[in-house]
Amino acid sequence: MTQPVRIAPSILSADFSRLGEEVRAIDAAGADWVHVDVMDGHFVPNLTIGPAVVKALRPHSSKPFDVHLMISPVDHFLDAFAEAGADIITVHPEAGPHTHRTIQRIKALGKQAGVSLNPATPAKMLDYLLEEIDLVLVMSVNPGFGGQSFIESQLRKIEAIRKQIDRLGKDIRLEVDGGIDVMTAPRAIAAGADVLVAGTATFRGGPDAYAANIRGLRGG
Ligand code: DX5
Ligand code: ZN
Repeated sequence: MTQPVRIAPSILSADFSRLGEEVRAIDAAGADWVHVDVMDGHFVPNLTIGPAVVKALRPHSSKPFDVHLMISPVDHFLDAFAEAGADIITVHPEAGPHTHRTIQRIKALGKQAGVSLNPATPAKMLDYLLEEIDLVLVMSVNPGFGGQSFIESQLRKIEAIRKQIDRLGKDIRLEVDGGIDVMTAPRAIAAGADVLVAGTATFRGGPDAYAANIRGLRGG
């Protein structure tokens, strides 16, 4: 592993009535990125937050905002999330007919671009995208909800993508999202992940536990 592991708490598991405080608390507790799950009730069966909330949270942390868009169509929201303060914008290839163009738009907005693969989406989807992007996000649960169980088969996908990234020799983050806890984190890291998204495992126990929770995910 050439990179230290980064921890990206998903604020989906935060207390929504105190989101600003929660973002400050995970920042102080050692989070590397702030993972923001955006859902539209159409691409995934849940509704969460939009660009206005990202904008409102932006002053609460200077850590990178890692914005995971689970919305379809996605293109007409890219500018709004960029303006709201996203640093990394990740899209699902199924969310629009022209993923390559979507990536080009994110880059033109001066942001880092990510592609996320659902559990049933093969690594092969990246064949003509990998060299264009900054991050691959492997979903280790079906997107839509926090607190689901890690899907084992995604370890094989992480291993395959790690090989592709290393072969390409480009600086691309490999992020895993869903069901990450102290048991699954080391396995995802061993498979080649270098960014761990964790909602439930970060926020359990309330603010006093966040620092220990994040340390635990790094391996103690
Ligand atoms: C699921 C989201 C995840 C989710 C992770 O659609 O993309 O980021 O919040 O939650 P946990 O860590 O609880 O599985
Ligand atoms: Zn996510």
